[in-house]
Amino acid sequence: MAVKEDKSSYSNDCNFIKKNNYIDLGDRGRYCTKNKLNELTGKEWIKFTKSWFILRPIRRSNDVISHPAKFPESLAERFIRFFTKEGEIVLDPMAGTGTVNYICEKLGRIGYSIELEEKYYDIGKNRSYQNFYLGDCRNIEKFNIPKVDYILTSPPYWDSLKRNHIRQIKRKDKGFDTEYSLKQKNFENIENYDEFINQLVDYYKLLKNWLKKRKYITIIVNNIYKNGKLYPLAFELACKLGKYYALKDEQVWCQDDKRLVALGINNAYVGNRHHTYCLIFRNE
Ligand SMILES: C[S@@+](CC[C@H](N)C(=O)[O-])C[C@H]1O[C@@H](n2cnc3c(N)ncnc32)[C@H](O)[C@@H]1O
Repeated sequence: MAVKEDKSSYSNDCNFIKKNNYIDLGDRGRYCTKNKLNELTGKEWIKFTKSWFILRPIRRSNDVISHPAKFPESLAERFIRFFTKEGEIVLDPMAGTGTVNYICEKLGRIGYSIELEEKYYDIGKNRSYQNFYLGDCRNIEKFNIPKVDYILTSPPYWDSLKRNHIRQIKRKDKGFDTEYSLKQKNFENIENYDEFINQLVDYYKLLKNWLKKRKYITIIVNNIYKNGKLYPLAFELACKLGKYYALKDEQVWCQDDKRLVALGINNAYVGNRHHTYCLIFRNE
């Protein structure tokens, strides 16, 4: 027996969408056509706002492995999907191997990136056709960068790569970089910790001129353990930058895939630091 299509419920659905501005996307949930920020459903939106998350990044490919502190593609995708819509502009002024540009291309966003070191810039240029500039990000006005909808970036964690940490020994053996360079212009080479933070804060302050009003900047950063002491870089950045942008949250990226290392056993407490902060600010 032929099943008669229930037209009444179909037209009721259309009326529902028109009236309430919702589109049903099945398992993904319902998308509100009035969503100002992104193309996610309410269900996906809520999931993102949990204050911690775990990623299981795939092993870094050979083309990008020489960079000592690249963030995973899945991290960039998570944040870019939440803070932008298709066709919007994203900036990473300390772009390393251009992960942000790479994901922008995949997601139909427009990426702009700057990197000081030619070796990483070359890798980034090969990974995507988006806008990539070689130079000191402090000279951002020299590059042709419009106002952007979102900034996703990660600075050097002061001089933390230079300390020949136990985790770096294998990289060194394989001939991979364990620091960026000796260039004075690289933020990594500012010797004094307070000076490093102040220069970083000044730089992020300058970036306000490139970020549209009421749009967001996310900084991936961590506190640093050096010579038996924790330097609260992430916390200090949150406080100091909070004077210029509205600090909205600190999401914690739990790095459950890192190997535990025997540190300080039978002697003194030394933490296995397996998390990173994602500081979310808004230009208000
Ligand atoms: C944590 S890494 C960023 C990694 C990047 N997110 C990726 O996925 O490859 C920080 C980068 O900032 C760059 N950098 C440091 N000082 C800079 C400056 N003054 N101008 C531009 N880039 C700079 C470093 O060379 C390094 O590649």
